[in-house]
Amino acid sequence: MRSLAVFTVPAVLALGALALSSSDRARAEEKEKPPALVPVDVNMHDFMEGMFQAPYRRLKVALAAEPKDAGGWKAVRSDALILAEGSNLLLTRKPKADAELWSKHSVASRDSGAELLKAAKAKDYTAARKAYVAMLDHCNACHKKFEDGKHILAP
Ligand code: HEC
Repeated sequence: MRSLAVFTVPAVLALGALALSSSDRARAEEKEKPPALVPVDVNMHDFMEGMFQAPYRRLKVALAAEPKDAGGWKAVRSDALILAEGSNLLLTRKPKADAELWSKHSVASRDSGAELLKAAKAKDYTAARKAYVAMLDHCNACHKKFEDGKHILAP
C-alpha cells in the first residue's frame, strides 16, 4: 500500500505540472500573436461617410479663419488625428486593382494629416492651412483615380 503511494503521488504531481505547463504555453502563444487588425464589415461608401466626412466638414469650418482659442485648436488637432489614423486604416481596405496607388494616396493623406496635427499643436495657422490643403489634394487624388472624380473636396 505504502509503495503504491510512493509511485502514485509523484505521478499525479508530475501529470498536474505537465497539464499546467501546457496551458501556460498556450496562453503565452496567444500573447505572442497580437490580435490582427480586422476591418469592420462596411463598404467604402459607408466607411468614408462614417469616418471621413464629419471631420472633413468640421475642419473646413474650423480652418476657414485662424482658430480663436485653445479650444478651437484642440478641435483641429482631434479631427486631424482622426483623418490621419483613418488614412492608416485605408491600408486595410486595398482594392484588388491598383493597390499600390491606393496605398500611396493613403500614406500621403496620413502624413499630411500628421503635419496638420503638428501645426495645430504649435497653433501655427499658416502651416496648418498649408497641411490641410495638401491633405485634401491627396484625398482628391484618390477620389479622382478610384471614384471617377466624384467628391472633389474643396478646402
Ligand atoms: C485611398 C483612397 C482614398 C483616400 C486617400 C481618401 N478617400 Fe475619400 N473616398 C474614397 C472612395 C473610394 C470613395 C467613394 C466611396 C463610395 O461611395 O463608393 C470616397 C468617398 C469620400 C467621401 C464621400 C462619402 C459619401 O458620403 O458619399 C468623402 C466625404 C470622403 N471620401 C472624404 C475623404 C477625405 C476627407 C479624405 C482625406 C483626408 C479622403 N476621403 C481620402 C477613397 C479615398
